[in-house]
Amino acid sequence: MLICNTVADMRAAVSDLRVPGSVGLVTTMGALHAGHMALVAAARADHPSVVATIFVNPTQFGDPADLDKYPRTEDTDLAMLRAAGVDAVFMPDVATMYPDGAETIVETTELAHVLHGAVRPGHFRGVATVVTKLFNIIGADAAYFGEKDYQQLAVIRRMVADLYTPVAVHGVTTVREPDGLAMSSRNMRLTPADRAAAPVLHQALTDAAAVLRAGGTVADARQAIHDRLATAPRAQLEGLDFVDAATFAPVDGAPRGTIGIMISAHFGDILLIDQKEIET
Ligand code: PAF
Repeated sequence: MLICNTVADMRAAVSDLRVPGSVGLVTTMGALHAGHMALVAAARADHPSVVATIFVNPTQFGDPADLDKYPRTEDTDLAMLRAAGVDAVFMPDVATMYPDGAETIVETTELAHVLHGAVRPGHFRGVATVVTKLFNIIGADAAYFGEKDYQQLAVIRRMVADLYTPVAVHGVTTVREPDGLAMSSRNMRLTPADRAAAPVLHQALTDAAAVLRAGGTVADARQAIHDRLATAPRAQLEGLDFVDAATFAPVDGAPRGTIGIMISAHFGDILLIDQKEIET
């Protein structure tokens, strides 16, 4: 497995790997878990060559303390990627991705500012900017992102469509712990009590989905989520949104079609997010 730290080395590595349509990309911030490895497996199933990136992107963190606390497990990450047969890993430093004088940003002007974006100003601009840079450096044919980061996936799809970026974007189903908790690099920072409480997010989403599938309203589904969260007081609800999956517009009443339910909650100082997409 090749490890590249410079743009020139990364481009040379990919040009050796590439035959048309052959390179799948998995972008990560490290602290890899089974969810990331499902992305690698999906990329591998579709493409003879797989490239992964590890870069903790400072521009998508609003709070510098959150950036400092982000887990960094490079040796384990590289061992996992090597074992999964990844062909090359791009691990740039911050100065490579944001050299002095860099001033260009990429922003989805609507989608970045609603829902999670409304409470995390700048977050999706940071994601869109770094993902554009990574797409431009690597030139992969396809890229794989987890559905757990539901709005991030929508932002990246919007950006790629708007900019005619020649990369196919694939969403991959969220991988869960046996108790339903969505895999996340943040899970390793939960206290034992918060870790025990955290599956309540998935349970609450499942309750809300059952309500909507039975013909209930968004108000009923919200109530079901609040009832479930009341059983786990460690969860401090931050955001709860019901959206049309195609447009990300909020839905109300008894919605029909493909509906996304997005939830975020603090467990201590750790923010966890989860989502569920359902047909009603
Ligand atoms: O989902 C992530 O890990 C990050 O937001 C991404 C897409 C690698 C951009 O930094």
